Amino acid sequence: MTAVCTAKTVSPVPSTKKELKGAIAELRKKLNAVILAHYYQDPEIQDIADFIGDSLELSRRAASTNADVIVFCGVHFMAETAKILSPEKMVLLPDLEAGCSLADDCPADEFAAFRDKHPDHIVVSYINCTAAVKAQSDLICTSSNAVALVSQLPKDRPILFAPDQNLGRWVQKQSGRELTIWPGRCMVHETFSEEALLKLKMMHPEAKVIAHPECLENLLELADYVGSTSKLLEYTETNPGTKFIVLTEPGILHQMKQRMPNKEFMDVPGIDGCSCNECPYMRLNTLEKLWRCLSTMKPSIEIEEGVRQKALIPIQRMLNMKAK
Ligand code: 13P
Ligand code: SF4
Repeated sequence: MTAVCTAKTVSPVPSTKKELKGAIAELRKKLNAVILAHYYQDPEIQDIADFIGDSLELSRRAASTNADVIVFCGVHFMAETAKILSPEKMVLLPDLEAGCSLADDCPADEFAAFRDKHPDHIVVSYINCTAAVKAQSDLICTSSNAVALVSQLPKDRPILFAPDQNLGRWVQKQSGRELTIWPGRCMVHETFSEEALLKLKMMHPEAKVIAHPECLENLLELADYVGSTSKLLEYTETNPGTKFIVLTEPGILHQMKQRMPNKEFMDVPGIDGCSCNECPYMRLNTLEKLWRCLSTMKPSIEIEEGVRQKALIPIQRMLNMKAK
């Protein structure tokens, strides 16, 4: 069944949070929509989502949902991946400006020139890139499966890895495979202050340090555990420790605190004590924008069909490969 939006004239913005949530719930039902949210979303968005996950889990969910409309509360490359996997569905992103510095750091034309210089390489791209870069890749990976997938690639073939240099370096170390790495970076994970981390470690010597692999190498070296957002969450649930210093976007702390009210979780400030550890793109989505996009069915994600078909191949390859 294809969803038809009957709400042609946009009703006024509900005036309270409660009314806003009620209006979102009504529209979600009427449109047969599913709300997918990444862990870096504001807690109030996480609380009304149908499913919360890391990039890999969200991609799998987007590929398998029966909903007619996917509202992607995350960033552009995530919503784009959902559209690549489910072209027949309407995919909405509450704020079209919700981008990603890693995707911005890797323009498709420059990436094509980089690939041309290494014609014999297998091209592995982190999912944090545009559809146009995915379309030029042999395999997509996420932070949760990158090591496992790279480890399975033929040993006699050299590998290009893009666009995150920090993740690339970490994958290289873990897999033992030599990678030629594109020099992209996450503007959020690069801001964590080593000095602030060391102070926290001194004040809480029993705390476990857990980190996302997009962090700088010097911080990863200080971590007890490195993993994707879902893996960090899983680690805090299964580890007997009761205190954790968390080196990733602090949105994830909402799930940790909710699931483990008796454990303590600390985020790490950025250099100079700034709160730049919050992803400015992820945080562009708000409840009001979520309501608005369901009311107007805009902004929706559109991809040129030729690019979509090419980008689908390395994503499907990833989804078909065993990660453990
Ligand atoms: P995950 O793979 O953990 O979802 O991370 C995505 C991301 O953008 C991290 O900054
Ligand atoms: Fe991109 Fe970094 Fe934001 Fe993740 S945290 S979406 S990698 S800018």
